[in-house]
Amino acid sequence: MASSLPPGSTGLPFIGETLQFLTDRNFVQKRYQRHGSVFKSHIIGRPTVFMVGPDAVEFLLSSGFDNFSWRDGWPDTFKLLLGRSLFVQEGEEHRKNRRLMMPAFHGAALARYFSSMEEITQQHLKKWEQQQTLQWYEEFKQLTFDIASQIFLGTPPGKETERLSQLFTTLTSGLLSFPNLPGSQFKKSLAARNALLDHLAIVINQRKENPTDDALSLLLDAQDEEGNRLSFEEIRAQAMLLLFAGHETTTSMLTWFALEVARNKDVYQKAKAEQQTFSDAVTLEQISKMPYLDQIFNEIERLHPPVAGGFRGVVKPFEFNGYSVPAGWLAQYSILHTHRLPEVYPDPEKFDPDRWHNTKQKPFSLIGFGGGSRVCIGLAFAKLEMKLVAAHLLRHYEWELLPHQRLEPVQIPTRRPKDRLRVIFRAID
Ligand code: HEM
Repeated sequence: MASSLPPGSTGLPFIGETLQFLTDRNFVQKRYQRHGSVFKSHIIGRPTVFMVGPDAVEFLLSSGFDNFSWRDGWPDTFKLLLGRSLFVQEGEEHRKNRRLMMPAFHGAALARYFSSMEEITQQHLKKWEQQQTLQWYEEFKQLTFDIASQIFLGTPPGKETERLSQLFTTLTSGLLSFPNLPGSQFKKSLAARNALLDHLAIVINQRKENPTDDALSLLLDAQDEEGNRLSFEEIRAQAMLLLFAGHETTTSMLTWFALEVARNKDVYQKAKAEQQTFSDAVTLEQISKMPYLDQIFNEIERLHPPVAGGFRGVVKPFEFNGYSVPAGWLAQYSILHTHRLPEVYPDPEKFDPDRWHNTKQKPFSLIGFGGGSRVCIGLAFAKLEMKLVAAHLLRHYEWELLPHQRLEPVQIPTRRPKDRLRVIFRAID
């Protein structure tokens, strides 16, 4: 017997359920409760299948990989603003580029970046100590952007990185805009993209003349066993993507770390006690020996994933759970709601790092960095950076939430507390 389309409603003609999807925080959750892990809708002009829960996500990211296209899943604005970068590459082109880029984000390269991360973190801590009152989300954004531009491009913190950071903010706000609408944000974002590309061209040419040990030099040098290298345009597009993908996401997780630790004093005390077992300076060797801090970051990733989900285009019809989905549809795997399923995580709304103590995790149940062969390339880099910053904060500082602020989450473009987390910050030595 031929299987049917997944259950669900496709909403109004043309706009479908786009408005509900963008405005209702519980859009996926409500439909999951009604229909289960696979259901249909119609958003952003296309029939869409939503896939929620470890089994459905495993199908999309791993076993059913060939049915889906990355490029076809992102809106055109992403392709226009971020260029031919890893996000929108597929097949052989993606495999080649990813292989050439991998060494810049793992092993020996990470160890080399550690001292730059440490130095820039210290500068920001000193500045925060003097400021005393912080809007911490904005401060973490400057910190993570300074780290990214130093390590990826060799551009040290200062006026130039402030300008670049501003350009990125303008670029990011056009990612979900309407390119053809008069007065749309998209035009400003395109101008910001062009200014960033001009800057990258200068930096790449300089680095060709004078190689250093930043990630850009590694990308310029990279060669695989077949003799493939990244072209100038490829390096420029990938560097742009790395700066984009590599700072707002870590900003988001650091902000939620600071917020959850502030409102869960027992967690703060336990995490601080773990840090007190180390000598004063934070070293690379120590970073892998902080199991409780790992538990906290797992729980932050679960409860506050910076990216709520990922889109793909369906390029080959497929069957899942007895339903069939035709080619041409959009597919979304839900990170946010997979992390909140009570059958996977009992009492899912509770912030509880202890749930990660000695637990064996079901595959594809913690997917804040995606999963499968296209898992986030910056995962190890991000974890190193976040743990380094957190270790400093826990050893030498305390912070208090300022009253009268809205802490409820805003999810787009990356998850943050509505008022960007305002705190009083002080050293405790
Ligand atoms: C807390 C920090 C981060 C989070 C939560 C995060 C999250 C993600 C997620 C969910 C994906 C998969 C998207 C999908 O399946 O559609 C992804 C991919 C990616 N991320 Fe990250 N990311 C983080 C940090 C970074 C950093 C620091 C970099 C750069 C060094 C980076 C670069 C990338 C790239 C290039 C991809 C595309 C990989 C591919 O398609 O092969 N990310 N990230």
